[in-house]
Amino acid sequence: EYYQEPYRNQVHFSPEFGWMNDPNGLVYYHGLYHMYYQYYPYGLLWGPMHWGHAISTDLTHWIPQKIALYPDAQGHIFSGSIIIDKKNDSGFGKDTMVAFYTNDRKGIQDQRIAVSHDEGQTWEKINEPIMKNPGIKDWRDPNVFWYQKDKKWIMVLTTHNKAMFYSSKNLKQWTLMSTFGPTDQSKGVWECPSLMRLPVENSNQKKWVLQISRTEGSPAGGTGVEYFVGDFNGQHFIQHRKLKRRDWVNYGADYYAAIPWNNLEGPRGERVTIAWMSSWKYAERTPTTPWRNSMSLPVSLTLVKMGDAFRLKQTPIYYLKPKDGHIRFHHKTIQPSTNILKGHKFKVGEIKAEFDLSKSNAKEFGFQLREGNGQYTRIGYQVTTHRLFVDRSHSSNFHFNSDITGVHAIHMNPTNHKIQLHIFLDHSALEVFGNNGIRVITDQIFPRVNNDGMSLYSSGGHTVITSFVLQPFTSIWG
Ligand code: FRU
Repeated sequence: EYYQEPYRNQVHFSPEFGWMNDPNGLVYYHGLYHMYYQYYPYGLLWGPMHWGHAISTDLTHWIPQKIALYPDAQGHIFSGSIIIDKKNDSGFGKDTMVAFYTNDRKGIQDQRIAVSHDEGQTWEKINEPIMKNPGIKDWRDPNVFWYQKDKKWIMVLTTHNKAMFYSSKNLKQWTLMSTFGPTDQSKGVWECPSLMRLPVENSNQKKWVLQISRTEGSPAGGTGVEYFVGDFNGQHFIQHRKLKRRDWVNYGADYYAAIPWNNLEGPRGERVTIAWMSSWKYAERTPTTPWRNSMSLPVSLTLVKMGDAFRLKQTPIYYLKPKDGHIRFHHKTIQPSTNILKGHKFKVGEIKAEFDLSKSNAKEFGFQLREGNGQYTRIGYQVTTHRLFVDRSHSSNFHFNSDITGVHAIHMNPTNHKIQLHIFLDHSALEVFGNNGIRVITDQIFPRVNNDGMSLYSSGGHTVITSFVLQPFTSIWG
């Protein structure tokens, strides 16, 4: 039986074998979600990059496809995006799929395209670069989209500590319009940019969000995805307001290279993204075989206005089949040193819980999952400091990296004295959506495979839980 190996995630995508990193070329076409990804099929370490490929009709169940792009003497196929050339702007034919990628030849990077005339199944590389390297070291990850207002294509690229915005009418010749950044003194490199127009909830307003992956300086330590909210006038991205605190899409250690699906907008203009669920600080050492690394759950993005700032809100998208073992209760007071979930086993599924701080006097409350053999992973809320956290420091014997903290925490205010947690648990990862996705923490964990205990805890006082639902899921690899 496939996909039964230890740590093989059951509700998150991973390739059958080989190494995977960034999602690439996300595009929706004729009812199919395409996901390409950075892929090295011949080993468990990063190697000469290919684009792997999978398709889905629901963003949950994925069907592996043939490898789309192979490296050759010209170079490796680094990250990029795909558009549908509906009006034949490129001259390759109406409805051609055009893939934009960075070609890397011994560290020299330029931008190239490949085309598909059969809806993304087979690809032909156009080996001439469309953009020659102007003498920049890290210059990569083209993200292309259609800008309706000026009827032109826009490409965002990143280099060292900036995003670069280009435009084109024919998808082949690109003109630099502007740059954005640097925004701080952090070390490291910007990668995998995307620019999206997102709806502001409870208004008719839309704002532009620039999302950037950064190799250093994320809150958990190491790689992470930062975002900026602002306006885009077809040429420049203008940040709405400089925040004192930087805003990260995800506060866990395992969320990187997130980009949106092209040719896909929700009824309010929502966009859907997915990320690589790992960290460059240890991605090549995780204890899995014969594959390495998974994708996050896809999320739908909107903005929420908070004071005079805008905050990203992420709603997970999942069409998972429920399995036996459902638990549900309402209005219970959790006393310290009791565990009302004692004896329940839980390894794959979701928990939705709401806590009422106005009726509680605990200092901290939350869940311990994958308990056993002295191990556990804690997902909790610190009442006095208003912090949502995941503590994976006792989750396993795996040594992640000394640059990365064991506790991944972020400030989260209660709404009407309530704290909501929506947790997805999988064989080697968990994702926590706090207060309807206003804060998200995604982390890999590698506990002993038979650890399946859980507890609901309250410390320093009691906690009132207003509702609790636990729903196990069946595997997506059915
Ligand atoms: C991000 C990244 C990209 C690059 C790709 C190479 O994880 O470093 O910038 O295109 O991976 O695999």
